[in-house]
Amino acid sequence: MTLPQSLDFSHLYSDETRARKSSPLKSCIHYFQDPKIAFLGGGLPLSKYFPWDSIVADSSLPSLTYGIETDLPNTGAREETCHVRLERNEITKGGDLKDIPLSRALQYGFGMGQPEFLSFVREHTQLVHKVRYSDWDVLATTGNTGSWESTLRIFCNKGDTILAEQYSFSSSIYAAEAQGINVFPVPLDEHGLIPERLEAILDNWNPKTKKPKLLYTVPTGQNPTGSSLSDNRKIEIYRIAQKHDLLILEDEPYYFLQMDHYQREATSRKVTHFKSQSEFLDSLAKSFISLDTDGRVIRMDSFSKVLAPGTRLGWLVASKKILRVYNQLHEMTIQNPSGFSQAIVAGTLNRWGQEGFLDWLLGLRREYSEKRDIAIDGLFKHLPKTPIFRINPPTAGMFFTITIDASAHPDFLTKYSSKPELVELAIYEKTIENGVLVIPGSWFKVSGNTEPPQPSEHKKGSNSNEIFFRGTFAAVDSDTLKNGVQRLGETLKQEFQL
Ligand SMILES: Cc1ncc(COP(=O)(O)O)c(C=O)c1O
Repeated sequence: MTLPQSLDFSHLYSDETRARKSSPLKSCIHYFQDPKIAFLGGGLPLSKYFPWDSIVADSSLPSLTYGIETDLPNTGAREETCHVRLERNEITKGGDLKDIPLSRALQYGFGMGQPEFLSFVREHTQLVHKVRYSDWDVLATTGNTGSWESTLRIFCNKGDTILAEQYSFSSSIYAAEAQGINVFPVPLDEHGLIPERLEAILDNWNPKTKKPKLLYTVPTGQNPTGSSLSDNRKIEIYRIAQKHDLLILEDEPYYFLQMDHYQREATSRKVTHFKSQSEFLDSLAKSFISLDTDGRVIRMDSFSKVLAPGTRLGWLVASKKILRVYNQLHEMTIQNPSGFSQAIVAGTLNRWGQEGFLDWLLGLRREYSEKRDIAIDGLFKHLPKTPIFRINPPTAGMFFTITIDASAHPDFLTKYSSKPELVELAIYEKTIENGVLVIPGSWFKVSGNTEPPQPSEHKKGSNSNEIFFRGTFAAVDSDTLKNGVQRLGETLKQEFQL
């Protein structure tokens, strides 16, 4: 089947992008690798002056016999440790295996990323998302924080408006606001962003204001609500994006932390055992990039939550036309993600192979499912059974939320003057006093508007006295998690005098 070409979205570029010229110096750097050329053209230090002769990076080797276990039977055929030894110069290893030599990894050049890294994530992307247009590609990034910052600069001018979930990852929102960009909220519920509300906002957009160019969304294990968008909602949202010429930025650090639904009864809990990796892949939620036929989705992927945040390594998936613009910006900002990081991560993943990486992700899924169950079991055990508190067990990611009817607080009308945000602050302070930290939902509230404003009904939520707190089951060991959840339950019991 011939796949379509992506559309041209250059009409959505920012003034900065339109003004940016590609650096002429970068146009000839590839000659540095050409043995026929005496390269006298650039300020590249000779690699023999790099102090490192070799780097050894040992890791677990999926399928693992210790550390994170996978759902797949361990055949015993594989070693337990994955040895990566990176050398200064290119040397041929067994089979097809090629490491990034340090002389290249630590040199300038390769703004899109090192080929050995890109080929792994390109193959992974095709395996998982099966992109439906022909001219897509991947670009190495320093993770999603950096990708988002670049995205804002590429598409937005000061005074533009973008859309985001009504509660969203505050760093992303603050990054946009610091660039003078309005972030307009789209209501969400426990299943994520509500397509009907998105459509109503865009259909009735005040024509005296500039229409939003892009939607920023965290579809899986949303930060902070823990919600995950269903495939049907994504299909609807994509249709609305086509109708209103909107780009979709999917920020997906939690995509592979998808879990089975939480079962209240421990005895009826079953961990899904996948018979094959393709069964595992088929079980995953559809991504926006997998629905995209226009090239209007930009997917931000990161190793932060599935390998380690300090790798500062991730990748973008988008049309080649759009990635070229990211590359031009990166030439003047980050140049490329750290060569150490690309060489170590590519060396590890190319030994694990696509299957090994999926084994690793399966193992993480199991670990996080257990931690999620510990947290939610504890909340059901320690929170008083009353409609005042609503526990929202997530099916992906690292976060759970507790929604609270602040008007049920005994001091709501008096001490807190009917202001839910004051109840939230009081609970926050009390939890810390009692030795547990959860984050007030209001810290994630998106409240931007336009001038003149949009119709007020667009911002209406369901219950204005509701507050919520975000907790994570990821950051601590199981015993600390149990204690923390117990302290949280006790604090709420005390506060609401139950
Ligand atoms: C939604 C979301 N996006 C991005 C990030 C940061 O990702 P990275 O480490 O890849 O920059 C986080 C981290 O908490 C996040 O929750």
